Amino acid sequence: MSETETTPVDVESAIRNRYSARAFLDRPVDTETIREVLDIARWSPSGVNAQPWNVVVATGETRRRLGEALTAHVRSGGPESSQYSYYPEEWTEPYLGRRRACGFQLYGALGIERSDYEARSEAMLRNFDFFGAPAALLVYMTDHIGGGGMADIGMFLQSVMLAAVGKGLATCPQAAIAFYPDVVATVLEPPADHSLICAISMGWPDPDAPVNNFRTERVEVDEFTLWYD
Ligand SMILES: Cc1cc2nc3c(=O)[nH]c(=O)nc-3n(C[C@H](O)[C@H](O)[C@H](O)COP(=O)(O)O)c2cc1C
Repeated sequence: MSETETTPVDVESAIRNRYSARAFLDRPVDTETIREVLDIARWSPSGVNAQPWNVVVATGETRRRLGEALTAHVRSGGPESSQYSYYPEEWTEPYLGRRRACGFQLYGALGIERSDYEARSEAMLRNFDFFGAPAALLVYMTDHIGGGGMADIGMFLQSVMLAAVGKGLATCPQAAIAFYPDVVATVLEPPADHSLICAISMGWPDPDAPVNNFRTERVEVDEFTLWYD
């Protein structure tokens, strides 16, 4: 078979089985496994093959210190330092509704009432300890590329998460961390001239945690597709 021929592979299971895990077992992921995940994800496509991503992997003591610094900063109301704007200033429908549904499901799984702001805030803070995941991947993008680089980074993020599924690992992509690149930089040295786009928590999912046992929904194909023949 030539290199350009392809045989069908089971991509569907990987895509359907990925979900955002927010509770992890207290069991490390060895660096070699993370390297294998990145070795797969590096085959992501990017415009002109620029591959504008750069990853910092934090495990062990560094991951612990990172969680501590971020949680303390956010808990004390420390300032944000985002290098790009991820969310809109004003949410409009249908995105507002979808965002609300996502929150209701998440807090519902955690048994938190809508009106319990304190419990919601504590649950939100778990982001900054990477939900207890033993590994945190910080995905940066070079500043020497246009806005299209964000599409490339999206490709890469999904590839990392699918490759992790293939190893039995679970992940949670986290824009929350990208609001605090300055705090991250107090713990480790980020690549120069790069912006922090997203983090990915990675580890072995806790199968018994209710927060890992709900699945979000998606709109049907015909709600986001127009067909012309
Ligand atoms: C770029 C990106 C950033 C995200 N940031 C966060 C985050 O900061 N915290 C969080 O708990 N989930 C975050 N998520 C997870 C989304 O809430 C989740 O993907 C969505 O609700 C769909 O659920 P699923 O991933 O379980 O299929 C993020 C997802 C993406 C793609």
